Amino acid sequence: YYGNTALDMKPGAATQNQTNTKEVTILYGSQTGNCQRLAEELSETLGSQGYKVTLSSMNEFKSTQLKKLSYLFLIISTHGEGDPPDNAIAFYEYLFSRRAPKLNDLSFSVLSLGDSSYEFFCETGKKIDQRLEELGAKRVTARVDCDLDFDDPAAEWLGTVVKYLNETGEGTSGSSQSLSSISVLPNSGSTYSRRNPFKAEVLENINLNGRGSNKETRHLELSIEGSGFTFKPGDSLGIFPENNPELVGLIINEMGWDQDELVPFNKQGETCSLHEALKHHYELTVLTKPLLEKLSQIHPNERLTELLQSENKQELQTYMEGRDLVDVIRDFAPWDLQAAQFIAILRKLPARLYSIASSYEANPEEVHLTIGAVRYEAHERTRHGVCSIQCAERVLPGDYLPVYVHENPNFHLPEDPSAPIIMIGPGTGIAPFRSFLEEREAVEAPGKSWLFFGDQHYVTDFLYQIDWQRWLKMGVLTRMDIAFSRDTEEKVYVQHRMLEKKQELYKWLREGAYLYICGDEKHMAHDVHTTLLMILEEEGGMTSEEANEYLTQLLREKRYQRDVY
Ligand code: 2AM
Repeated sequence: YYGNTALDMKPGAATQNQTNTKEVTILYGSQTGNCQRLAEELSETLGSQGYKVTLSSMNEFKSTQLKKLSYLFLIISTHGEGDPPDNAIAFYEYLFSRRAPKLNDLSFSVLSLGDSSYEFFCETGKKIDQRLEELGAKRVTARVDCDLDFDDPAAEWLGTVVKYLNETGEGTSGSSQSLSSISVLPNSGSTYSRRNPFKAEVLENINLNGRGSNKETRHLELSIEGSGFTFKPGDSLGIFPENNPELVGLIINEMGWDQDELVPFNKQGETCSLHEALKHHYELTVLTKPLLEKLSQIHPNERLTELLQSENKQELQTYMEGRDLVDVIRDFAPWDLQAAQFIAILRKLPARLYSIASSYEANPEEVHLTIGAVRYEAHERTRHGVCSIQCAERVLPGDYLPVYVHENPNFHLPEDPSAPIIMIGPGTGIAPFRSFLEEREAVEAPGKSWLFFGDQHYVTDFLYQIDWQRWLKMGVLTRMDIAFSRDTEEKVYVQHRMLEKKQELYKWLREGAYLYICGDEKHMAHDVHTTLLMILEEEGGMTSEEANEYLTQLLREKRYQRDVY
């Protein structure tokens, strides 16, 4: 079995005498690092069997080499409205451009990661898979589309690929390396991981917003003493949350089940009470199309069938938005379903990732987090973010949370401590930058730094104000620009501040500054990107094409990094 971390062969399992002459290329497109890790696992397995493996992010791969390859395996995730990850955009555009070559000699397969609650589930992987076939390449094993709980299907795909290579062509017998001989290497010296989370004690849990704010942003301090975890600024902490017990009770009541009934909570068939299972193991607050489809098979209901078969696809999408399982249970009553049948079709409750807001160098026994409480009204009920509201309402100092460190290879400080950095992080997007500066203070990094922060009101929402002011005074932070959107008649956002300082900003970029953006993807990160293009055109005298190319180049050099959600 293999885990989510690096992969190792058991002693003796490696086939040193193997002469595998095949050259295999593995490309990944990864935003949060999952695809990269899987690609590394495949690469290490094949490498240890003697294959010549080239492993690279899609953007770092010279696309003109594509036509020379024989075996290509691609691992890629999908974001937002079917978008590729940042480090795959250039490759993706090349593949769909007229420059893309015929690939008749290429054998390939695709593994795609995604989230089935999005309309464009695994879209990037699907499109690449289809496009390679169009270009003449031969698909050697079927694409696998993974949902959030990707470990098992991904392991299966990796196993199929290894088996295919071992069994095919060139007369090499190949070892029949099976996945059972692939074992888990613990993450950076820790025995704890996503598969085996560490119970971290909560040391502190406060609201950062002042009285009268529209927002509630929790600052949590967790003890990781004894975990063996290490982390770098930019990495995240995964928390396994609990569903709201009231929501669990509501579901059990509406269905007329017994909350103490024993039900299975995993594929291995281990059991616990129905209440515990729904609270800890299954997703209740997000609807997906596959879920409703499976439901309609075990629960024939005319209205549900109508919704699923509607000509207008938007109808289903609109229905699922802002609704949860309680709505489904009420809307498609009456029910005659066993709890175990119902549970068998639910998705596993996934961990939530939060950018770490503290530095390991400065404080190795703690992890600080900045968590925005998510509450909103939809369809006549107040809806709660699972993990954020658990932290806001049901977690006290002295409690324990199951956590693990998630390395984020695409959001790290420059190796060179003297490189200038520009950080753009409105709202909870500020979190990793507190870690950046704590680190730069601890290691006495000489590089310049510039922070853009924004939120609604100066008086109530200036998160970590005292920290920034201290760092400004010390010179750890060189400049800071703030944008409070609801203090003035007209809204002011971080990108307006950037535009005001465009000359200086462009100068920093020319001096080699690294750009970091963290926070809301859909609006903020998109608008900031557009503003950067404007600045390059106005200050750098670039055409819009040149400005685009400039940012693409920055992405390639990892001087433009985004942690957006
Ligand atoms: P608003 O809610 O007043 O519109 C953090 O949430 C800050 O980001 C708030 O000040 C919020 O402003 C602001 N914000 C909202 N949309 C934004 C966008 N498209 N670009 C930048 N900031 C935005």
